[in-house]
Amino acid sequence: MSIVRVNVPGGSYPIEIAPNLMQQLATSIPPDTSAILLLSNPTVRQLYGDTALKALKASGKEIYCFDIPDGEQYKNLDTLNEVFTFMLEHKLDRKSVLVALGGGVVGDLGGFAAATFMRGIRFVQVPTTLLAQVDSSVGGKTAVNHPLGKNLLGAFYQPIAVDIDINVLKTLPQREIAAGLAEVIKYGLIMDREFFDWCEEFADELKALEPQAINYAIHRSCELKAQVVEEDEKESNRRMILNFGHTFAHVIENGLGYGEWLHGEAVGCGMVQAAELSALVCNFPKEDVERVRRLVEKIGCPTVAPALGGKDKWFETMKLDKKATAGKIKFVLLEKIGQAKVQGAPQELVGLVLSKTTSAEVKAKEVRSESAAEPVSEPSGRPLKETAVTTTLEPAAPFSTVVDSSEAAAEVARQAQIARDAGAGTGRTGGIYGVDGVRPATDE
Ligand SMILES: NC(=O)c1ccc[n+]([C@@H]2O[C@H](COP(=O)([O-])OP(=O)(O)OC[C@H]3O[C@@H](n4cnc5c(N)ncnc54)[C@H](O)[C@@H]3O)[C@@H](O)[C@H]2O)c1
Ligand SMILES: [Zn+2]
Repeated sequence: MSIVRVNVPGGSYPIEIAPNLMQQLATSIPPDTSAILLLSNPTVRQLYGDTALKALKASGKEIYCFDIPDGEQYKNLDTLNEVFTFMLEHKLDRKSVLVALGGGVVGDLGGFAAATFMRGIRFVQVPTTLLAQVDSSVGGKTAVNHPLGKNLLGAFYQPIAVDIDINVLKTLPQREIAAGLAEVIKYGLIMDREFFDWCEEFADELKALEPQAINYAIHRSCELKAQVVEEDEKESNRRMILNFGHTFAHVIENGLGYGEWLHGEAVGCGMVQAAELSALVCNFPKEDVERVRRLVEKIGCPTVAPALGGKDKWFETMKLDKKATAGKIKFVLLEKIGQAKVQGAPQELVGLVLSKTTSAEVKAKEVRSESAAEPVSEPSGRPLKETAVTTTLEPAAPFSTVVDSSEAAAEVARQAQIARDAGAGTGRTGGIYGVDGVRPATDE
């Protein structure tokens, strides 16, 4: 097992990384815990719910389970309120521990629930996507979305532990792996040249989830993110470098409609664009721009962005970026591989980059079929209430009275399938935030 320790004023905790770590989940539950809420979604529950439940049972505590529907469109106040209602109805108290088992959506919403339930209870992150393992579970940002923008309601709140089981990545679609790898490469580009070199050398192994390679990549990514977060827990300055590639990425996500490209895919492309801009603004070597492009391509992310109706549309959305002040856009730029800084750039140079890196040919679905290893269902616009009924698991009783958890898992699988058939299972929604004038994403 490898361990990264995070030390921030808001709390000090270990990130543990190993294959099959989920089986040891009980060791992250403090002895004075009154009860556990295992929060997940039907997709993840079906795959890992049994393992997590069995492992948590070793703590001897009462365990309650609650699933939120799968999907970014459910990361909102309505869902959060359902979680609170469940917790209150089942008499969870200040000594309860929330375990968030899932990707960044479950982690962000679960973290915010823990931050605010009875003014804060302890929580453990069990991230199950690569993106959540290397990014969203580290750093203590928790949030839900508002119709006017992503992640606008939230809190800085640190977990008591992050348990990363690398074996769960085996069930992740290749596209999600590529998206997670884009954030891995990002850490090398902004902070650690050797790590970037290493990613280049082991790109094939990383894509194939070779255990030693992926374990190291996750470890180093968590270490680098933790380092930035320790310097700047609440994002006043240094933490902004984690936004490398994101100013461009957010325009792509916003312009196409959130979910058309995965966030990490947009970041991969955005990093190529930011590298091009770095070459024009801070003499970032041209051959290194090509290295960035080649690696992003190799891991399976797009390197050409959609034109989105022209440069003005790009500039307009960029001005909504949270790094922009008084309408002036700021970028995270590279001086060299491993060294980043935040600064403005003349609009004509940004325009040159857009001319070089965008194409009217690129559309959501074309890129999707090129880079997708798995088919992706159509986005869903179904309202929460209807789908919540079919996708929410309600073992309202403590674990001891859940007779057969494999039966429960089978039922969840069945319900998840119904939801998927109804088009609610992918969690990828088109356009709920992709409206003109609406703030672009602020995930990091
Ligand atoms: N808090 C932060 O600092 C931070 C940083 C980056 C991103 N985020 C947030 O993270 C979210 C995105 O996270 P994500 O990319 O993990 O998306 P996600 O949570 O929606 O997960 C993606 C899909 O993979 C499924 N899944 C999860 N684990 C799986 C597994 N092991 N096998 C098969 N399928 C699995 C999920 O059910 C979902 O359908 C966004 O809401 C974003 O705002 C937060
Ligand atoms: Zn990101």
